[in-house]
Amino acid sequence: MAANDSLLKLDGANCFEDRIGQEHGLRPEDLDKLQQRIASCHAELESRRGGDVGFMELPYDEELAARIVEKAGELRGWCHNFVVLGIGGSALGAIALHTALNHSFHNLLPAGHPGRKGAPRLFVMDNVDPALLSHFFDVIEDELPETAFNVITKSGSTAETMSQFLHVRELLRRRGADPARQIIATTDADPEKSILRRIAQREGFCTLPIPQNVGGRFSVLSAVGLLSAAVGGIDVRRLLAGAAAMDARCRSGDPRRNPAALYAALLYLFYGRGKPITVLMPYCHALRRLGDWYVQLWAESLGKRDGLETTDIFNGPTPVASVGVTDQHSTMQLYQDGRFDKVITLVEVQRVLPEGENLPIARGDCEDELSYLAGRGFEELFQAELSATRRALTDKSRPNLTLRIPEVSPWTLGEMFMFFEYAVAYSGSLYGVNTFDQPGVELGKQYTYGLMGREGYSAPAQP
Ligand code: PA5
Repeated sequence: MAANDSLLKLDGANCFEDRIGQEHGLRPEDLDKLQQRIASCHAELESRRGGDVGFMELPYDEELAARIVEKAGELRGWCHNFVVLGIGGSALGAIALHTALNHSFHNLLPAGHPGRKGAPRLFVMDNVDPALLSHFFDVIEDELPETAFNVITKSGSTAETMSQFLHVRELLRRRGADPARQIIATTDADPEKSILRRIAQREGFCTLPIPQNVGGRFSVLSAVGLLSAAVGGIDVRRLLAGAAAMDARCRSGDPRRNPAALYAALLYLFYGRGKPITVLMPYCHALRRLGDWYVQLWAESLGKRDGLETTDIFNGPTPVASVGVTDQHSTMQLYQDGRFDKVITLVEVQRVLPEGENLPIARGDCEDELSYLAGRGFEELFQAELSATRRALTDKSRPNLTLRIPEVSPWTLGEMFMFFEYAVAYSGSLYGVNTFDQPGVELGKQYTYGLMGREGYSAPAQP
């Protein structure tokens, strides 16, 4: 597939007044009026490409892709478990990739099952809840020598990740294992900045870099997301190629040609019209954790007290993750009949099952009232539920967009990551905030350091 063979389509028709009425719908002129601003947001972002903003360049690092594929091959040769230790942007991309592209019950399948693709069991530990950790170690205890740990932290100092690292290293040492064989450190290349990098260099761990100009939540297409993906059998070159295809579409400053710019513009217009809640609702169980990745990307990038020019603006749309059809029997009631403060992005996967596969609903004897189901396919039912939801939302004047992809594949995942990253970067410019910092998260980290007695940090006055 060539670089411009983008497969993702954004359908924003149900945002406009001809579909959802004058009170809640936009007029085409609203978008026209924003065109100039969108073009300057785009130009501003382009001027930073490869400078202080690096996510758009990630698809083109062929050397890294080769290293990742080689390292993953080696790991697949000996490990039964591959564990990511990381949090936030150092974990959510790996989780999204694994749940999207690997078997829904990957870790439960027998090792030789074709659905496992020859991969070890995969775990991402993104919490230091001691009950969770202790249960996790129960699971891998007997296979510790066959377990690889990928410690991922851009800053190289995050308390959650570093405490897990210390625990694992000690466990390995106590069992007579060599931590340098089993730990891979993914972190900032600069040992001045990253404690993990310094330890890794001293102790001879394999290391992978996180570019300085790529922040945690924008790092899924760097070594942060790629190693566990490749270990899981995901074609990371296709993932990057899909991302490059979206990057090519995002070279235009015109929202009618650049879907990420259109998405940012539509949500921004609704934000200004009292609709600050943005729901991402894939109709695809495999994409449910993409929702968590999206929530973090949106919340951490746009939720800012201060603007670029003014203080105390307290900005931020509230992102929410939902999944179809499950949430049709939960939050969908609120989305249809609650306050008019939401915009719903539906993700439509045109074929959820692989080409040629079908899962029919049993035909057998059944009550007359159920005969409408008998002999039909689950795929058909699933798609009908998506159409029903979209229609119901539209009929009730609820703005909704559809992000359409033909299938869930490394290519389309790559496209979606890039699409949302561009969209959030444009959004930050439109709202006038710094998309790429996270002062709130940092304050939490500093208070934790202070409370735990780290030198140079003080505890908050009242914990
Ligand atoms: O997006 C971000 O910058 C954050 O969510 C970080 O990824 C998170 O705080 C973890 O930071 P680090 O990778 O430095 O451990």
